[in-house]
Amino acid sequence: MEVIICNTEVEIGATAAAKVAKVTKAVQATGRNVVIGVATGSSPLSTYAALKQLIDLGELDLSQASAFALDEYVGLPTSHPESYREVIRRTVTQPLGLAPERVHVPDGAATDLEKAGADYDAAIKAAGGVDVQILGVGSNGHIGFNEPISSLSSRTRMVPLTEQTRRDNARFFSSIAEVPTRCLTQGLGTIMEARHCVLVATGVGKAAAVKALVEGPVQAMCPASVLQLHESATIIIDEAAAAQLELKDYYLAQSAS
Ligand code: F6R
Repeated sequence: MEVIICNTEVEIGATAAAKVAKVTKAVQATGRNVVIGVATGSSPLSTYAALKQLIDLGELDLSQASAFALDEYVGLPTSHPESYREVIRRTVTQPLGLAPERVHVPDGAATDLEKAGADYDAAIKAAGGVDVQILGVGSNGHIGFNEPISSLSSRTRMVPLTEQTRRDNARFFSSIAEVPTRCLTQGLGTIMEARHCVLVATGVGKAAAVKALVEGPVQAMCPASVLQLHESATIIIDEAAAAQLELKDYYLAQSAS
């Protein structure tokens, strides 16, 4: 695991985008189209903005890329502005110039959610697997919507959201009552199959989760800690999110070198 501590959110976005661009170019150099795993929420927005800058400068081309979102709410119409299908369309597909038919989001409206989960895993596999997965982390340590006690080898499936996650996400809705209670999320086993993982986090509200995921034991109570078992996981955070890290000075020295 690599931990990079940045000064600003803009720097976090630029650092994460540089990682994504590096993987993308390496994949494209082999003649294959890149497959990117994309997250919703606030954390990756600076990464998407930095990717757009690289595209506008002509340094990156994602027009042939495929993308797979991590998760989707269950019980929210797909046309709802906060459905992840819509959020990904607004924040990823349109600004980064991806072809809409190559951007995939789990089908939270499916009547058979178990089948929808299995189909999603199969679609990722058929696309050749995710080359680089962009991740945020919940204040309770979730990645995707793998809430605490998710199996570390779980596959894409329905997960009930914790009250904490619903409270955290209430800012996107007019009240907490509107926040769905369930989601369809890539499993931890699914996420771990991505060839590279890049997790971004900012702010003191993420400090405990970052401490647990980087320096805590690998355990289902902090689902993101499974990334300690990934051979290419990069954690890009600001000073506030790094506040509880025991080896913060060590990571800072590595970040500066
Ligand atoms: C989003 C996702 C979640 C978020 C996490 C952090 O697709 O899978 O794991 O990354 O809830 O959300 P923000 O970035 O809004 O704090």
